[in-house]
Amino acid sequence: MKKLKSASSPEDAQGRQYHIELKPGDIPRYVLLPGDPGRVPKIASFWDEARQVSGHREYVTYVGKYKGVGIAATSTGIGGPATAIAVEELLRVGADTFIRVGTTGALKKEIRLGDLVISTAAVRYDGTSKIYVDIEYPAVATPAVVQALIEAAETLGVRYHVGITASSDSFYIGQGRPGYRGYLPERWKGIERRLAEVGVLNFEMEAATLFTLANIYGARAGAVCAAIANRVTEEFIPGAGVEDAIRVANEAVRILSEWDNILGGPPKHISYVALKKAGWGKG
Ligand code: URA
Repeated sequence: MKKLKSASSPEDAQGRQYHIELKPGDIPRYVLLPGDPGRVPKIASFWDEARQVSGHREYVTYVGKYKGVGIAATSTGIGGPATAIAVEELLRVGADTFIRVGTTGALKKEIRLGDLVISTAAVRYDGTSKIYVDIEYPAVATPAVVQALIEAAETLGVRYHVGITASSDSFYIGQGRPGYRGYLPERWKGIERRLAEVGVLNFEMEAATLFTLANIYGARAGAVCAAIANRVTEEFIPGAGVEDAIRVANEAVRILSEWDNILGGPPKHISYVALKKAGWGKG
């Protein structure tokens, strides 16, 4: 076992991070973040070239090229704590633009299984983001990433919805599902209905942590999730829409890279006026 720099900076002499086992230079700026390690090779199967660069616990990373753009995918595992570790360490090795590619439970009847939800913000029912900053701080996605995800979904012709997501550290109780032997404290009974009443589209488990950390650290983040469940109709098909979410996230990276090259640097929002002036969209 190699000795790391220190207990408070758990990285080796090359800067290789303790959990994700990546060092500066291993990954490009754009990183897709599925929860499931098994989804990483699926994401990479759409790339021109791909290779696995690390695999430690829930953190599996592939790097490669998608339509000529350097891209990486790192799995976060489930929930805020595991996601925060991935984001903390990925930032240290050079990532600055994150897109969560996940699955979700829709809270609105009209969101069909297999539809995509692109998050503009996330209700902070996670625990980890509360350790970083007061609950009054908003967990918002970066406009440029939201814009790129919408552009990608439009281009690929898939069904999508845009709006507020709720992120919970709990799949069962915290999303209003009965626990073992029907346990469900009063506070969480009907939470899915109450959130839908105030316009929340979906429940998942990582976006709020990702968005909070990205804003604190000046990085860019967005999320696209496939609706595999609908809490109104009670349908659940694991895997519904996952391939579409992957295609949209990959394409959003290509679009963001094109915009970044035209506009110079990684802007937080995209000026369509500036893009048009540069001749974008004419091809
Ligand atoms: N992921 C969640 O967090 N909730 C769901 O209902 C489905 C996927």
